[in-house]
Amino acid sequence: MSTLKVISPNTEIKDNFLFVNYCHEKTKALKNSQTGQFEISSEIKNYKLKTDLKVPKVGLMLVGWGGNNGSTLTASIIANKNKLSWRTKRGIQQANYFGSLFLASTTKIGVDENGEEVYVPLNSLLPMVDPNDLVIGGWDISSLDLARSMERAQVLEPDLQRQVYDEMSNLKPLPSIYYKDFIATNQENRADNLIKESEKEAQLNILRNDIRNFKESNNLDKVIVLWTANTERFADIIEGVNDTAENILNSIKNNHSEISPSSMFAIASILEKSPFINGSPQNTFVPGVLDLAYKNNVYIGGDDFKSGQTKLKSVLVDFLVNAGIKPLGITSYNHLGNNDGLNLNSPSQFRSKEISKTNVVDDMVNSNEILYKKGEHPDHVIVIKYVPSVGDSKRALDEYENEIFMGGRKTISIHNTCEDSLLASPLILDLALLTELMTRIQVKEESKDSYEDFHSILSILSYMLKAPLSVDRPVNSLSKQRNAIENFLKACIGLPPNNDLLFNKMLR
Ligand SMILES: NC(=O)c1ccc[n+]([C@@H]2O[C@H](COP(=O)([O-])OP(=O)(O)OC[C@H]3O[C@@H](n4cnc5c(N)ncnc54)[C@H](O)[C@@H]3O)[C@@H](O)[C@H]2O)c1
Repeated sequence: MSTLKVISPNTEIKDNFLFVNYCHEKTKALKNSQTGQFEISSEIKNYKLKTDLKVPKVGLMLVGWGGNNGSTLTASIIANKNKLSWRTKRGIQQANYFGSLFLASTTKIGVDENGEEVYVPLNSLLPMVDPNDLVIGGWDISSLDLARSMERAQVLEPDLQRQVYDEMSNLKPLPSIYYKDFIATNQENRADNLIKESEKEAQLNILRNDIRNFKESNNLDKVIVLWTANTERFADIIEGVNDTAENILNSIKNNHSEISPSSMFAIASILEKSPFINGSPQNTFVPGVLDLAYKNNVYIGGDDFKSGQTKLKSVLVDFLVNAGIKPLGITSYNHLGNNDGLNLNSPSQFRSKEISKTNVVDDMVNSNEILYKKGEHPDHVIVIKYVPSVGDSKRALDEYENEIFMGGRKTISIHNTCEDSLLASPLILDLALLTELMTRIQVKEESKDSYEDFHSILSILSYMLKAPLSVDRPVNSLSKQRNAIENFLKACIGLPPNNDLLFNKMLR
């Protein structure tokens, strides 16, 4: 039973579906070219939202399952499911889901009889999949079982590794596809678990079969596929090759070399009607894949997990620009020593990461024409270096050079130790949980007869992603991204959007 009961004439439950009337108000601000004034008006549209309240049995297939993220996430779910605790030098540690928006953060739902704010876990607004019930599987070009992958990753404490070892050693990644020139050559020696077929069409069929088999053999209602494999180089967008759904499917038939492994997985997933999420920065979603997802009405989301440095950046720049302080230069150094860092050591893979990290301040800068003239932008430099000795414990050093009052300067320097896979793993869960929930929600415009799915690009996932894929211009401000999730979930149960007017605190 849900912990919430919303008393409102706008909500109704029928046959385990929740129906809610939602009134969407858009404030239009149009500049009158003659007077130069902004004319502000409201446009109201009425919708009905319908949510299937039955939580399905869900499988999560990870591409790159044997990597640091994949093995850390899998071991952590086993630890949580079995309520494990383990010894560390700081004492006994219990399994938890810290760092997950849905499992470890709360949202305000109102005030109690004393006017005190009431908060509930974010995942209690609507029935969501319990991560402990997720069935995890996937592919890796490396043949190590998950226990040995976890050892190789050097992320989790040895006493925890010991406790999950046997269960992890029964988990083996499926063979995958490996096109040498898409990831760094330094990855070649781990590529010992490959699909035998060399033609792309045959490979695509195998990947599709893998998804189907996984679904059937685990008796699942739904499968979500998520790329947490190595960062690839950008694929060239070529007219006639990968620019439309039809062309990209033809290019696979013709074994064209410019179709990346991640696009192959996305296509297999879309054709199997399984949502696909890209946790790395490359352009998996070339126009042909976007078109295919749209035509097949399958949800996709990307790109690149937003775990450490970028998350902080999207908060800090938001604060600075909204405080009327002008960031002039943002210089970000990273060094890391895991396999991700080794792969990013190669220039074309680094370039993918650089692109995804660069655009994260755009919307905040564009929002303030007092600080920035049209087209003006702070300097933004990204450096990533591979330093094996720090392992998965990435160091992010950022310097923000800012202009303050009367030409003064304020320099902020940040040293951020990001235990990379421990930050990324809960994000993977949030992406999977929210994507699954979205497959159970439909919308209907008042004037229309039937409910329909949302746009195939799930921009609501932006909070978890560095370079969010969006129907139009992406929103990068973290607080806006979080509000979008909270307010949407609230709308689905008939609660008003967050309102921080704090009006009652102003009254006598
Ligand atoms: N950990 C973070 O905080 C974080 C943040 C943002 C993005 N990312 C991205 O997530 C990805 C994974 O990170 P990680 O630390 O787990 O890296 P990792 O190198 O430990 O794991 C990647 C795994 O992918 C496998 N792989 C490579 N190509 C494959 C293919 N074609 N098919 C199947 N498997 C393949 C590798 O064998 C490896 O096991 C990287 O691209 C990284 O840039 C990570």
